[in-house]
Amino acid sequence: MKKRNLFLWMLAFILWNCGGAEKRADTPETDDSVLLEQEEVHGTKVSKVELSNPLDQAMVKTGEAVYDMKCSSCHRLTDERLVGPGWAGVTQKREPEWIINMITNVDMMLDTDPEAQKMLEECLVRMPNQNVEAADARGILEFMRKNDGEN
Ligand code: HEC
Repeated sequence: MKKRNLFLWMLAFILWNCGGAEKRADTPETDDSVLLEQEEVHGTKVSKVELSNPLDQAMVKTGEAVYDMKCSSCHRLTDERLVGPGWAGVTQKREPEWIINMITNVDMMLDTDPEAQKMLEECLVRMPNQNVEAADARGILEFMRKNDGEN
């Protein structure tokens, strides 16, 4: 029990440091298992993403469901940082291909992409590979576009 408390304190300390003076939410309940190393199984770099206009509502729904299950413990839909950055404005800030690769190839991105590495330096927490299938990742992108006000 003691060991676990120490771990939680360390985690709280890391989260406290993440994001400097920005406003922060309460420490989220993190599931220890997501912090374990996982092998990247969908690690093929995506270089072209076709965007649909208007939004594909079925994809938005898929994306929202995946967000609720796998991402909401670390990402808010506002600009508020939790463990990772809030998602508001992310589709304006990043190329769609970059976002998809961050979702399906996060280890590759954190190892090679300067922008991803910059975030890691700020956050100190490495985003875990969530084993998201390509179709689900595409849904998340659509859900992010909706969150950023697209129709
Ligand atoms: C355990 C916490 C955690 C979980 C769960 C998580 N992320 Fe992250 N995410 C991070 C952190 C931390 C960063 C910043 C990069 C880093 O430090 O690794 C990040 C960065 C990102 C970024 C880049 C944001 C930007 O502003 O450029 C995207 C996109 C992203 N995550 C998508 C997802 C998706 C999609 C999921 C769910 C399938 C997810 N994340 C689950 C912690 C998490």
